[in-house]
Amino acid sequence: MEKMWAGRFLKALDKTADGFNSSIHFDKRLYRHDITGSLAHAAMLHEVGILTAQELSLITEGLGKILDELEEGTLTFDEDAEDIHMFVEAELTKRIGDAGKKLHTARSRNDQVALDLRLYMRDEASEVCGLLRSLIESLLYVAEANRETIMPGYTHLQRAQPITFAHHLMAYCMMFTRDITRIEDAVRRMNYSPLGSSALAGTTHPIDRDAVAEALGFDGVSMNSIDGVSDRDYCVELEAAFSLIMTHLSRLSEEIILWSSWEFKFVELDDAYTTGSSIMPQKKNPDMAELVRGKCGRVYGDLMATLTVLKGIPLAYNKDMQEDKEAIFDATDTVKKCLEVFIPMIRTMTPIKENMYAACKRGFINATDLADYLTRRGMPFRTAYKTVGTLVARCVGEGKTLDEISLAEYKELSPLFEEDLYDEISLENCVRKRVSKGGTGFASLDGQIEYVRGFLK
Ligand code: ARG
Repeated sequence: MEKMWAGRFLKALDKTADGFNSSIHFDKRLYRHDITGSLAHAAMLHEVGILTAQELSLITEGLGKILDELEEGTLTFDEDAEDIHMFVEAELTKRIGDAGKKLHTARSRNDQVALDLRLYMRDEASEVCGLLRSLIESLLYVAEANRETIMPGYTHLQRAQPITFAHHLMAYCMMFTRDITRIEDAVRRMNYSPLGSSALAGTTHPIDRDAVAEALGFDGVSMNSIDGVSDRDYCVELEAAFSLIMTHLSRLSEEIILWSSWEFKFVELDDAYTTGSSIMPQKKNPDMAELVRGKCGRVYGDLMATLTVLKGIPLAYNKDMQEDKEAIFDATDTVKKCLEVFIPMIRTMTPIKENMYAACKRGFINATDLADYLTRRGMPFRTAYKTVGTLVARCVGEGKTLDEISLAEYKELSPLFEEDLYDEISLENCVRKRVSKGGTGFASLDGQIEYVRGFLK
């Protein structure tokens, strides 16, 4: 196929160079947004008197048919076309002749690709937000069924204080709600139309950028034509937001992997989300969680790739910028796939409450509560802390737990200890008494669930 820019050249592009330069094999996924942008551009060109009504209707019909045929699969992408923009324009011109050649008036591929990618990523961003909402729903479903499931909370992966399984899962709900707001923030900043920036300097034609922006659902137009074609901040921002989603998924993956090990056995993953081994008949592996943890690296890589592409290029458009797409497509696809597998995996996992409870019995996770008990009776916290520390050391030596020590022994260390201490350090009470806002107490949990439910509305 002859290049659209062939006029200036005396010979054809070298075949290897042509393949290297071409982006259609990955930017073809922009076809719908490219056509949407062209339809709005053409309508505006007619409004300002550049296209006749007849030319507009030829273009509109032609583009509509191309779109339908691409969706149906009756038209296939010409892999020899340089990119999706050239492909659509060439196909249109092939069908409708000269009117097709007028479509690119007052436009450059530089502002066209900037527009297409914004339109595409706006849709993708909203899909990712939808998936995050579903994931939060899954977490809420499990949390609500485990309001009173007591498990050890950890710091340094050492048993620390008792919490509920629901409280633990709600922590992830908070992360994923923030992820949604981060994407929404990025979308708010990127929702300005670059179309009409043209190659870099604007255009001599009497275009109406605002009309196109409005038709395409933007909040306005980019205010500087050079920035309009050069800005890829939104790619970086979205990749950063996706990276954080992956960070959160990866931390949850790590916990799920630990929890489903025999060492913990706090949860049993549904068979549908685990795999076996080719040699060890007993194995049931949490591959989905491991893959999500692993794929985190890809998304971080995509973010780094985009930042690195951008850091050295002078204004305005440079071909380096074509590299933005594979990175952001990969980041988007990856985060969506990870969320898609996580949503049902979380919903179908079975918490093994007895094991969680049993794990709370060892590790002195009620030691803080015992110190708090003394503190409430007037002992300064530091002294109480030391008293309980001494008790724990004694228990470790004797192989006992705190509730196996007799009251007489307790009283040797402090007369403040009374019979009620045993009740105070029961696991249920340790949880119930953490009434501070955001704590693991049952009332706080209700507040958290209500907050997240309100957020989802
Ligand atoms: N395929 C190109 C890209 O993705 C489109 C813009 C090309 N512009 C140009 N002046 N060569 O960046």
